[in-house]
Amino acid sequence: MAPSIIATAPVESAFAELHEKVQTNGNRNGSSVFTNEGSKDSAPHLDPSYKIIEQPIGTRRPIRVACMGAGYSGLMMAIVFSESMQDKNAELVLYERNEDLGGTWLENRYPGCKCDIPAHNYAYSFAANPEWPNYYATSQQIHDYMHSVADKYDCNKYIKYQHTIKSAIWNENDGKWDIKVQQADGTVFTDNVDVFINAGGVLNNWKWPNIEGLHSFKGKLIHSARWDQDYDFTGKKVASIGIGSSGIQIVPQLAKVVDSMDVYVRTQTWISPAPGINEPTAKDPDMDAEYNFTEGTLEIFKDPEVLREYRVAIMDRRIENFKRAIAESDVQKRAQELFRASMTERLGDSPKGRKALQYLLPDFPVGCRRQTPGPGFLEALTQDNVELNWDDVARVTENGIVTRSGEVKEYDVIVCATGFDTSFRPSFPVIGRNGVDLGQLWETEQPKAYFGFLVPDMPNYFCFIGPNSPISNGSLVLGIQATAVYVYKWLEKLQTEMIRSFEVRKDANEEYNQHMQEYLDRTVWTRGCRSWYKRGTVDGPVVAIYGGTSFHFMEAIKNPRWEDFHIDRMEVARANRFAYLGNGFTQRESKGGSAGATQTLDFAEYWRLFVLPEIHN
Ligand SMILES: Cc1cc2nc3c(=O)[nH]c(=O)nc-3n(C[C@H](O)[C@H](O)[C@H](O)COP(=O)(O)OP(=O)(O)OC[C@H]3O[C@@H](n4cnc5c(N)ncnc54)[C@H](O)[C@@H]3O)c2cc1C
Ligand SMILES: NC(=O)c1ccc[n+]([C@@H]2O[C@H](COP(=O)([O-])OP(=O)(O)OC[C@H]3O[C@@H](n4cnc5c(N)ncnc54)[C@H](OP(=O)(O)O)[C@@H]3O)[C@@H](O)[C@H]2O)c1
Repeated sequence: MAPSIIATAPVESAFAELHEKVQTNGNRNGSSVFTNEGSKDSAPHLDPSYKIIEQPIGTRRPIRVACMGAGYSGLMMAIVFSESMQDKNAELVLYERNEDLGGTWLENRYPGCKCDIPAHNYAYSFAANPEWPNYYATSQQIHDYMHSVADKYDCNKYIKYQHTIKSAIWNENDGKWDIKVQQADGTVFTDNVDVFINAGGVLNNWKWPNIEGLHSFKGKLIHSARWDQDYDFTGKKVASIGIGSSGIQIVPQLAKVVDSMDVYVRTQTWISPAPGINEPTAKDPDMDAEYNFTEGTLEIFKDPEVLREYRVAIMDRRIENFKRAIAESDVQKRAQELFRASMTERLGDSPKGRKALQYLLPDFPVGCRRQTPGPGFLEALTQDNVELNWDDVARVTENGIVTRSGEVKEYDVIVCATGFDTSFRPSFPVIGRNGVDLGQLWETEQPKAYFGFLVPDMPNYFCFIGPNSPISNGSLVLGIQATAVYVYKWLEKLQTEMIRSFEVRKDANEEYNQHMQEYLDRTVWTRGCRSWYKRGTVDGPVVAIYGGTSFHFMEAIKNPRWEDFHIDRMEVARANRFAYLGNGFTQRESKGGSAGATQTLDFAEYWRLFVLPEIHN
C-alpha cells in the first residue's frame, strides 16, 4: 500500500475527539474506577460493541505536566522535556517559589557552604564542567553551573518563578491534579494537570530548633539556610548550635573573624581524614593545600577525554564509601581506626584538643550520621577564641543562653545550624485518591515510597528524593537523572497506551519497603546515633536512604515493573486494553515516511533498538 493513502491529518482530530469523549463520559461519581491490570485474572468478558480506533500505534494523547521546584531534580525534568519531549504533545510547567533556580544552592549561602563531595561528580553526567576551580565547589559556583546548564538545555522556557504551590488535589472525575498556585502578587490560580511531579527537595524546609525562649533573643538570630549576607561577624560574641554538615562548615569560617565563639554540641561526629574517599588523594591531578586545582590541572581538564577519565576514577572511588556502610565489614572497622587516629592527631595534645576529642569521638560507626571532611573544623576547635560546649543549652533569653548549670552567657549573635524539616511530609496539602492526605499519612505511618518516588493512592504523581532515596549511596545526581528517565517512560506509556491514571500497588510498596528495611539492617545507618536519616531519632527506622549503591538504584529502575501498578484506562479503551493498537499502522507510515530502514539494521543497531543495553554488568 502506498504510504500516501494513509491519512495523517485525522490523527490529531481523532485524538481531540477521543479526549472530548473521555471528558464527557469519564467517571463522574468520584469513586475509584481503576482497572487492576496485573492483578487476579478474570473470566473473559468481551464487549461485542468494541470497534477499532482509527489512529496509528504510538499516537500521543495530549498531557500537561506540572513539576514543583527548579533545583537539581526539577532542572533534570526540564532537560528531559527539552531534549526528548519536544513535539510529543506534552506540556511542562515548572513552578518555583523562589525568584531564581538552584534550590539548595540558591538558599544555602552560609560562609564555607560547599558541596563536600568532589565537584566533578556533583554535576550531571552529560554536563561536565572543566572549569570547577576547586576539588569541592562553593554554593555560588554550583549555582552558576546550574544556570549554565539551564541555558544550554533551554530550560528557562518552562520555569515560572515566584509561583508557590499551595495545594495539590487529585480529581477523580477528570483524572487530573488540581494544583493551586500562588503568584508573587498573592493571587492564586488553579492549574489542572495530568501529572504532578514533586521536586520540592528534602532539605528545603529549614526550621528553627525547639529551644525554649529562642525567639526572645534580642541579638542577631540566624539560621544556616537563611544566612544574612550583610551581617558582619567581625569582633562579635557568637553562639553556634549544631554540628551537622552545615555547622561543621560554618565553624572554621566564623572562627577566623569573631571575637569569641561557643560551639554547642549534643551528639558526637566522625570527621573524615584527607586523603580519603570523598577527599583528594595523592593520585589526583595537582592542587594546592586548599584543594584549588593548579593552572596546569585546569589546562589538562580542557581535554574532554582527560576530564572524562578523571570523573570515572573519582566516581569509582566514591562508591567505596558504600562498602564502608556495611556495619560489620572490615572496611568499616578500618575506617574507624583511620578516622580515630586522624581526629586524635588533628585535635592535638593540648587540654582543649583532648577535651574536644573526648566530646566528639563517636561510639557509633562511621557514616551513621552523615560524614563530612570538614576541612579546618577540628583545628578551629582548638583556637583560643573557640570553646566547645557539650549539650549545654537549657534555654535562650533576651541576651544569650542559660546553660544547664545556670550560667548566663551573653552573645551578639546565635547561629542555628540546626537543620531542616526532614519528615518527608509535604508542606502543603497533597490529597490523592479516595481523599488520602499524604502529609497526614506520613505523620501516622512511616513514610514509604516505591523506589523513593511513587506512593500508593497518589495516581500520576512522582516525588524526587522521597523516602529511601539514594542520597548517601554514591551519587545523588545520577539517581536524580535515572529517576527523570523513569518518569519519562511512564509519561510515554500514559500518552501512547490510552492510560488515564496509574498508581503503585500497596502490596508492591509494602514488599519493596520490607526489602529496604531488611537490607538497611546490615548498614551503619540503623546503628545507635541520632540523625535526620531516622527523622531525628536514635533508633527509628531509616527513612532517608536507599538500600544499595546508586549504580544499583539505576539498574533497579531501568525497566519499570508495570506489574506493580494499578492502571486505569481511558474511557475509550475500557472495552479492550489493546485499543491503542489502533488502525494497524505505525506513526511513520501514517505520515507517509519510510520505515523500511528497519530491514537494513546491523546486529548492534537492531539490539540497541529492541533491547536496553546492560548498564553495569
Ligand atoms: C547545605 C547543603 C549542602 C548539600 N551538599 C550536598 C552534597 O555535597 N552532595 C549531595 O549529593 N547533596 C548535597 N545536598 C543535598 C541537596 O539538597 C541535593 O544534592 C540537591 O541539591 C537536591 O536537589 P532538589 O532539586 O531535589 O531539591 P532542592 O535543591 O531543595 O530544590 C527544591 C526546589 O523546590 C522549590 N519548592 C519547594 N516547595 C515549593 C512550593 N511549594 N512551590 C514551588 N516551589 C517549591 C524550592 O524553592 C527549591 O528551589 C546538600 C544539601 C544542603 C542543604
Ligand atoms: N556540604 C555538604 O555536603 C552539606 C552541607 C550542609 C548540609 N548538607 C546536607 O544537609 C543535611 C542537613 O545538614 P545540617 O547540618 O543542616 O542539619 P543536621 O545534619 O540535621 O544537623 C543539625 C544539627 O543541629 C543540632 N540540633 C538540632 N536541634 C537542636 C537543638 N534543639 N538543640 C541543640 N542542637 C540541636 C543537631 O544535633 P543532634 O544531631 O543531636 O540532633 C545537629 O548537630 C546533611 O546531612 C547533608 O545531607 C550537606
